[in-house]
Amino acid sequence: MKKIMITGALGQIGTELVIKCRTLYGNDNVLATDIREPDVDSAIAQGPFEILDVTDKNHMTQIVESFKPDTFMHMAALLSATAEKNPQFAWDLNMGGLLNALEVAREYHLQFFTPSSIGAFGPSTPKVNTPQVTIQRPTSMYGVNKVAGELLCQYYFDKFGVDTRSVRFPGLISHIKEPGGGTTDYAVDIYFKAVREGHYSSYIAKDTFMDMMYMEDAIDAIIQLMEADGVKLINRNAYNLSAMSIEPEMVKEAIREHYPEFQLDYEVDPIRQNIADSWPNNIDISCARAEWGFNPKYDLNKMTEVMLNEIAKKNKVR
Ligand code: SER
Repeated sequence: MKKIMITGALGQIGTELVIKCRTLYGNDNVLATDIREPDVDSAIAQGPFEILDVTDKNHMTQIVESFKPDTFMHMAALLSATAEKNPQFAWDLNMGGLLNALEVAREYHLQFFTPSSIGAFGPSTPKVNTPQVTIQRPTSMYGVNKVAGELLCQYYFDKFGVDTRSVRFPGLISHIKEPGGGTTDYAVDIYFKAVREGHYSSYIAKDTFMDMMYMEDAIDAIIQLMEADGVKLINRNAYNLSAMSIEPEMVKEAIREHYPEFQLDYEVDPIRQNIADSWPNNIDISCARAEWGFNPKYDLNKMTEVMLNEIAKKNKVR
């Protein structure tokens, strides 16, 4: 991995992935692309950048021909709650974009990464210690897209020999870029509201367990998987990843260690609650550990401390 093209570079993962890759592989070796321009003073704008609508395959091809990457990281996608509001558009963007990206990877012999999600599971999936290989019959459009995407990655590997690699990300938590339109976003919002307002109304009900991970661990996992010896990778569709299984009351207690006055109440959003209820409580990550050494560093308490400190710094309230 020496020259990397990244789509969705201004999204929740892309923002931090571009910066990390530029640090590791050199500023000029990482091309960030997104459907809109970055802010001129943002970190992303300090290196190569191109506007790209991932549904435009001709433009994608032109950019690849001119930048000549050896690696393609396809991050552009709609998250679960947004996809549920506009399922036809979600299909066009999530599947159309992915197929274009895989085709370009095939034509130009690029190593390929795209994320799947815990959203690729559904109500009939075993909820506890969800195995790597199990029932995947999701009931959201996002989940349908993710399962189809996993199968496409496996297909491009088997049929065309494209070096596809993927993970099923849990909810990702970061203080740098707030997510938009996800079901797991409550676990990010809660920290911002705790620092700024001392109070949060959760749209996800108490006792709803979902897998989560701190963004630094997620970015490290992508790099580690892409650098791993391909011969050892048995699963070419996507690896289960998680660092913690949490529900809102657990986050509240962790926040109260630092902000004892913090208050949490509930205004449950039926659409996102329904999606959350269809996802596993906690997934089994043993394949990722065994095949390429996945080893997250942040648990709930460590992540909470960093999130609160960094948000407080940003807001200069402490
Ligand atoms: N964080 C994503 C979402 O909630 C899950 O992949 O949509």
